[in-house]
Amino acid sequence: MTLHGALIAGTGSFLPERKLTNIDLEKMVDTSDEWIVQRTGIRERRIASPGESSASMAVIAAQRALESSGTRPEEIDLILCATITPDMPTPSNACLIQHALGCRRGIGAMDLNAACSGFVYALVTATNFIKTGSAKTVLVIGAETLSRITDYTDRSTCILFGDGAGAVVLKQTTDLGAGVQAFELGADGSGAMLLHVPAGGSRHPADPESVGAKLHTLKMSGRDVFKFAVAQMAESIEKAMNACKLTPDQIKLVIPHQSNARIIDSAATKIGLTADRMFINIDRYGNTSAASVAIALDEAIRAGRCGRGDWVVIIGIGGGLTWATVTVKL
Ligand code: ACO
Repeated sequence: MTLHGALIAGTGSFLPERKLTNIDLEKMVDTSDEWIVQRTGIRERRIASPGESSASMAVIAAQRALESSGTRPEEIDLILCATITPDMPTPSNACLIQHALGCRRGIGAMDLNAACSGFVYALVTATNFIKTGSAKTVLVIGAETLSRITDYTDRSTCILFGDGAGAVVLKQTTDLGAGVQAFELGADGSGAMLLHVPAGGSRHPADPESVGAKLHTLKMSGRDVFKFAVAQMAESIEKAMNACKLTPDQIKLVIPHQSNARIIDSAATKIGLTADRMFINIDRYGNTSAASVAIALDEAIRAGRCGRGDWVVIIGIGGGLTWATVTVKL
């Protein structure tokens, strides 16, 4: 079998207009701007308006990625949308996006759930379709409307989450030395209940009691997830560098999942990467789960923090528990 290269040809993102600041949250729960900034690095997040949803934001992010890569919707031959907040349990967001973009009938379109690692899981999946020649042009999206599954009376979670979408167009190239060079997928289901939505699925379908008790919102054992994320982020970045025999000084930028600035800082210190090599935008958007890495990658490229020929490590970590890394030569 001839293997092909998988190149990040373009990126795009979309954030809703409305901002929810720490000062706004001070009026909603017993918290303070100082506590949130010190413990998480977050200052504000974006919240979808009633007419916006994960699919509608994904469509705009995707259009921007198509534009930046010079790709027409008809050229796409696979759509992957990572999300834990699809518009509906079925159909998939990917099918809604396919129709809205005007992509060809008959291409593959599916959603993927790996919580905050979802976009990187989708990027790895897309890479393998391209490397084996099963697809030439794949649209990979991370889109979330976490505000719709957040309990705004629970101060331990509501300060963290925000909404948004990011997208990448991955294209086949004959240059095996360009694009995705290595990846890792990981999961540890023994930690599944550390971050979960108790009701609304087949185990506990929505009923008046579950809605009244807010069991359709995210519940998190913050301290345990924090410990896992600190250790896993450092380990995964090191593995991602070793897979391509890279030293920290060869890495132009790490695009980490934006879960907590302290998690990102401590991973950087452990590995010996200076703070300027870790991309952070959590201050403005909070944790947008599967959208976070996709938005960060788009912002980093558009801001000139990384570009063609640079080594970049992309890493997702989150519920499941899950983790995923991609080492890419842009
Ligand atoms: N404001 C003020 N005080 C608060 C708040 C708040 N918003 N939230 C908690 N506290 C209090 C607690 O009640 C506790 O008080 P106590 O000591 O009197 O009991 C104290 O602050 C410390 O609480 P901790 O939970 O130990 O705080 P911690 O420093 O761990 O920070 C946080 C909490 C920010 C949630 C952190 O644990 C974290 O970031 N966890 C990881 C989250 C994450 O990475 N999620 C990724 C996956 S998300 C996904 O997949 C969708």
